[in-house]
Amino acid sequence: MGQVCATYACGFDDLLSAHATKVAARSNASRREGGGGARGIHGDGSGGGRATTTSTPTGEHTLPPFISSSVQLVLCDPPYNIRADRSLEQSAHDVFTSDDMQRAARLFQTVVRPGGHVLIFCSAGQLGPWMDTLKALKDMDPVGRKSLSAFRVDGHPLVAIKDAHAVNSLRQSTTNLSNKVEFIVHATRAGVSREECYAMVNYRTWNAVPSRFLAHDNVIDNVRPPHFKEVVLRWRDGSRQWIRPEQKCLALILELLLRFSQPGDIVLDTFAGTCVTAAACIRAVLGQHRLVISCDSDAVVMDASRARLRREFVNQVLVGGYESSGVVTSDVIAAARTIEAASVAAATATTAAGAGGETDSEGRGGSGAAVGEEIELMINPPSSVMGDDAAVWEPPPGLSCHSALSLELVRYFAGRWAMQADAERVGRVAQTPGLPRPGADVGVEVARLEGVGVGSWPRLYQCALAVEDAEVALHVSAAHLGL
Ligand SMILES: C[S@@+](CC[C@H](N)C(=O)[O-])C[C@H]1O[C@@H](n2cnc3c(N)ncnc32)[C@H](O)[C@@H]1O
Repeated sequence: MGQVCATYACGFDDLLSAHATKVAARSNASRREGGGGARGIHGDGSGGGRATTTSTPTGEHTLPPFISSSVQLVLCDPPYNIRADRSLEQSAHDVFTSDDMQRAARLFQTVVRPGGHVLIFCSAGQLGPWMDTLKALKDMDPVGRKSLSAFRVDGHPLVAIKDAHAVNSLRQSTTNLSNKVEFIVHATRAGVSREECYAMVNYRTWNAVPSRFLAHDNVIDNVRPPHFKEVVLRWRDGSRQWIRPEQKCLALILELLLRFSQPGDIVLDTFAGTCVTAAACIRAVLGQHRLVISCDSDAVVMDASRARLRREFVNQVLVGGYESSGVVTSDVIAAARTIEAASVAAATATTAAGAGGETDSEGRGGSGAAVGEEIELMINPPSSVMGDDAAVWEPPPGLSCHSALSLELVRYFAGRWAMQADAERVGRVAQTPGLPRPGADVGVEVARLEGVGVGSWPRLYQCALAVEDAEVALHVSAAHLGL
């Protein structure tokens, strides 16, 4: 997993030095063993260009020794600084001073490459300060005579509107108004022309969130709370609690990731919490995966998040997500199968032992539990144990779903993927691991997805769609309409 994802239990300030230290140690070890030092993308840290992958003969590649000017996307959710104000529980990790904001912004200026993006979730009160801080950052021009703005800051933030039926805590407002809006400040690192900036974003025709707005609008609606299988829980005071009450929905992060980065890019999350950005990068697979670096100053949350990411990685390896990436060898696939079998066995045993399958003799429940020093962390069990029913996410009744593909597109992909499946089966033994099912089955299954939001499609078909060319799909639709 280290080939696609690096996690650090450290503050954002320490990130660069922690990363450099780790890479240096790996490089020394490799030299002692007679290897050629750390292999990586970029490598020299001079930055500026697109991330290109240097692979060893086994397909291994590593994160860059220096991430200066090489990050395409900073996608982060820094503390909102409001929990303490309202005497909410778990406020210790929510403190963020204006000095922190200045230092974080300067870090972003250092690591983001020209034309790359910064997306910062923030409270309404932080909107102005974040925008002003980013606007105030300057680069010296090459001759050093005048300073230039380091970021182009969008005057309007991205707005994520939660699904109307999502339940919110009413305790957060004196008037019982519940908050349905997330603000996301967006800035583009200066240094390339506007045209090049446009070319580096990806306004797909299908979304991970079933929003009614198009991908180039600054509103994403129908955002739901995190699915219960995504939530990272811990035991405290005899009950399960979200380790981060503000945990973000993975689909929303995936949506932003797909819009503002390309396969192979480096993504950075400096306030990772439950590592939702890293989880989205791992999920964006089938040749689409991004390389991700995450850090959080809270070692406990990082421990829990690493377990989440391992689960995510194993799931993706098992659905064949990394097949075309060259990252995953047959050993990794075998290891993933072993881990899956062990966790299914453990989860089944726990379910059988607990009363009603929910709790053990001490009133604790769940599987994959890891015991920390002070608290017990609980990671949700694999989907094969939980069942996939609750993963279905349709827009509220009566609302159209932007991401449900039109009938002609569903038929087009049903035919195309059926032919691909048959082509892949030719000359291969029926029991070969990873062999697709017969084309006729694939065709029928895909045809049934008419009217279903892409976010609710089986993962395999979501991955297949992710690598399809949006342009081709547009032509198919246009031809159907006689345009
Ligand atoms: C709003 S939460 C992020 C939640 C995350 N988006 C999720 O979905 O789980 C902010 C995170 O920043 C972390 N944090 C606070 N100060 C930090 C610092 N100086 N450096 C790095 N992380 C910090 C906190 O521990 C917390 O996990």
